[in-house]
Amino acid sequence: MPRDASPRRYLMCPPTHFKVTYSINPWMDPAKPVDLPLALTQWEDLRDRYRSLGHTVELLEPRIDLPDMVFAANGATVIEGRVLLARFAHAERVPEAAVHRDWFRAHGFTDVHEPDHINEGEGDFAVTATYILAGRGFRSSPLSHDEAQEFFGRPVIGLELVDPRYYHLDTALCVLDEAADEIMYYPGAFSPGSRAVLRRLFPDALIAEEEDAAALGLNAVSDGRHVLLPQAAVGLYRPLRERGFEPIGMDLGELLKGGGSVKCCTQELRA
Ligand code: ARG
Repeated sequence: MPRDASPRRYLMCPPTHFKVTYSINPWMDPAKPVDLPLALTQWEDLRDRYRSLGHTVELLEPRIDLPDMVFAANGATVIEGRVLLARFAHAERVPEAAVHRDWFRAHGFTDVHEPDHINEGEGDFAVTATYILAGRGFRSSPLSHDEAQEFFGRPVIGLELVDPRYYHLDTALCVLDEAADEIMYYPGAFSPGSRAVLRRLFPDALIAEEEDAAALGLNAVSDGRHVLLPQAAVGLYRPLRERGFEPIGMDLGELLKGGGSVKCCTQELRA
């Protein structure tokens, strides 16, 4: 049975000034050149794909001194129009939070919270109907989990990330259908206790193999029906189809050099 898509509103930032000049995750190697025109084309394909699926894409103005701004998911978490801004772990990205704050203020968001604790937005917060799943271990502070719970009034489930390749929750876990609390994830990215928590809360989750996780296949975006994911994660296509989803492979190879793919480029503005 095919699933139903629901229209979404996304915030993205073009990779106009994208480059890899520092390394804050194992994917980033400043010695490897980035093909900027190709990065732009790949990003435009993603933006256009969202629009052709009927979604709204809002744009952030890129800043020349902030090469990681293309990873817009990290700037905030928005639920029911309420905005929990990010507070970045690494100095190189700290100023991005203010760019996001100014965008929200200029676009009619009135409930915008500047956090006390480090959190990297949707990099580490994933939203289902019942829970906020929250990563920690590399970037977001465990204290940010309490802060998110208090601000949103939703139960936050803390999950410990243990493999540096999966430094953000959204590199290892993806919400496929939030209404049904349906997710996919790669167990190897989590501590034994967190794996047990995921098994208990999501016994029917789609479990990703190492190969697909290593292609950053979990860094995907679902609208309830279409699942846009890195095209190299071929092992995920069949299990997604079997569940009634429509996988759409995207090539974001240049952005992968920064350690991000589909989800990292996409912040969801939940109404
Ligand atoms: N270079 C960026 C960083 O390390 C990549 C961020 C990827 N974003 C994400 N949502 N996982 O911070």
